[in-house]
Amino acid sequence: MKSNTLKSSSPSVKMSALLSQMTLEEKIGQLQQSAYFSTVVTGHVVDHSGTIEAIKAGRVGSVLSVHDERDLKMLQKTAVEESRLGIPLLFMFDVIHGYKTAFPINLALSNSWDPDLVERVSRGVAYETSHAGLHVTFSPMVDLVRDPRWGRVMESNGEDPYLSSLLTQAYVKGYQQDDLAQPHAIAACVKHFAGYGFAEAGREYNTVDVSERTLRSVVFPPFQAGIDAGVRMVMTAFNVINDRPATANRWLLNDVLRDEMGFQGVIISDYTSTEEIIQHKVATDTKDVAYQCFEAGLDHEMVSQTFQHHLKELIAEGKISEETLNERVLRILTLKEQLGLFDNPYRNFYEDSAQYMLLETTKALAQEAVEKTVVMLKNDDALPLKPKQTVGLFGPFIESQDVIGEWAALCEKSDVITLKQAFDQAKHPYVLLDETTLDTRSRELDTIIVALGEAGSEAGEGNSKAKLRLSASQEALVKKAHQTGKNIVLVVFAGRPLILTELEPFADAILYAYQPGTMSGAGLYRLLSGQVSPSGRLTLTFPYHEGQIPVYYNHLNTGRPFDHARPEYRYNSRFIDIPNEPLYPFGFGLTYGQFEYSDVFLSKDHLREDDTVKVYVTLKNHGSHGALETVQLYIEAQSFSVSRPVNELKAFKQVYLDAGEEKTTVFTLTNAMFKAFNIDMAWTTEQRSYFVKVGPHSGALIARTVQLT
Ligand code: GLC
Repeated sequence: MKSNTLKSSSPSVKMSALLSQMTLEEKIGQLQQSAYFSTVVTGHVVDHSGTIEAIKAGRVGSVLSVHDERDLKMLQKTAVEESRLGIPLLFMFDVIHGYKTAFPINLALSNSWDPDLVERVSRGVAYETSHAGLHVTFSPMVDLVRDPRWGRVMESNGEDPYLSSLLTQAYVKGYQQDDLAQPHAIAACVKHFAGYGFAEAGREYNTVDVSERTLRSVVFPPFQAGIDAGVRMVMTAFNVINDRPATANRWLLNDVLRDEMGFQGVIISDYTSTEEIIQHKVATDTKDVAYQCFEAGLDHEMVSQTFQHHLKELIAEGKISEETLNERVLRILTLKEQLGLFDNPYRNFYEDSAQYMLLETTKALAQEAVEKTVVMLKNDDALPLKPKQTVGLFGPFIESQDVIGEWAALCEKSDVITLKQAFDQAKHPYVLLDETTLDTRSRELDTIIVALGEAGSEAGEGNSKAKLRLSASQEALVKKAHQTGKNIVLVVFAGRPLILTELEPFADAILYAYQPGTMSGAGLYRLLSGQVSPSGRLTLTFPYHEGQIPVYYNHLNTGRPFDHARPEYRYNSRFIDIPNEPLYPFGFGLTYGQFEYSDVFLSKDHLREDDTVKVYVTLKNHGSHGALETVQLYIEAQSFSVSRPVNELKAFKQVYLDAGEEKTTVFTLTNAMFKAFNIDMAWTTEQRSYFVKVGPHSGALIARTVQLT
């Protein structure tokens, strides 16, 4: 079985021989990604009429966002049969949580804390994508995020680097499988390198100013995980790092990504992010852009054409070398060879690809993903519903199909199973309520389900929001429903954490569904009815108020931490008008079980470098339902040569307990779990005392102490 690492990315004899036949123009052409459809982005109209001619002339290496089978075949046929060397094209697309079957958005998927599920979902996504004629997906997005005002948190794995690293590896393995030449494998692309999630104020494309320590501690690790899993592509970010645009940042792309992290695949820019270094005011014209981005280490230019227009001249002037150009071209050719495109340029083309889409097995997987990613934030004995208990269905999202998110490839809202349809399919009695019938028709009811949320178009790229509460009209609906005196079950659909502080007291139960995709209602019904218990755990903190942002679990202690024993004391780190604590912390999520943690102890109170220590914790489910509990293990350095977070997630285990069942879980501590970048930026441990903490979430932990010796 071919290794999934990039050892195989060294150019083959065949590719080197092909390179030797290429003209300078054809070499430069392999560095070009064209967008086929006319696209108006940042003022640039991409006119595809020239694309065909460019392909014939060998001036296009890949094409972005084509998904019409006829176009794909026509374009590939043009390249293979009408260009001089017949080099096949790569077709790339943003398939980030489903091609035709919409899985839950990636932020929701991360709430499963289940790398196996994410790998299976990615394999399912790759199955549909590879049957649609595509070769590369611009996924997974692994930006570390802390700010729900940023619309793209919906695509992310949340705020923790350890969990995001595990999930990144799962995405890459699921997409790329063991060998890219396998029929249903597609190449993955980790993005956006780097630091895009730290845009100031959560404002899209805004300035990023983070320390090297933050970059190395929380931003880079998921990218390293993707590289270690064999990811074939990295996309550069729009933002600056150390005031240099990432796309033209040689420290970032060469010194860090290539030399330190060992990435040998293709570095692609983001959409026109090369030209945008002019807007960043580090270049004055497109020739300067081409020079700076090429020198920084960029291999493939998305949509902009500065390489196309200027590399030949820059080579003639001796400013860049053809030898370096050859290295860049070989990376693109190698990826095409790894995908088997030289053996069969039409490998992903199938007659009537529709027959491979929305298969029952794929939809069943999507429903499983919904069940494992919804997070129950509150439940005062309102859930699960009693069997066949007539419920009220109320609110704009009871029948809404706008729950597939903003980056949904060819997924159709019309394929979504709504909450109402799921109650119909289950023959579960209900009364559809509206504001005029709420009071009268709810009299005989016990429970009202109120479904609310933000529109799919309110999250995603270019959709930053400063105000994160639901609309006033939606909040009013909840309060009106509460006035009936019935049990109120809130189901919230959103691409990000919203501010639920105002609504929380009016709900007896809250299910946070995010944007669950095609099987939305089906999965939610299984949770509401108790056929399966909720098990999702938050991977992105829910603020009490926007004013807390950024608020995240792995924060530093400060020199004057808030003192709960003296809440009125003025001179410590606090607000005078809102609490420091978030509404719901990282790792939080309720189940239908009632888990008691006890007998937490360590096998030893000291840990030598070459040794391990066991951590034991006993769980008992006192509830009347079986449920899956995600037991989390964090560490805290009691001191270190630099200030370290009050909590650092280092392990977790998912334990299923039937009602009344008791089980002891064991974690293994290793020296490596205690490493950090020390005062000299060396990744190391220090022989000090550390807390080891276990519990159901970052705000409820039982601590023990271990000494590193
Ligand atoms: C977009 C996004 C990037 C996406 C690319 C191609 O602007 O930033 O994530 O992959 O363009 O669509």
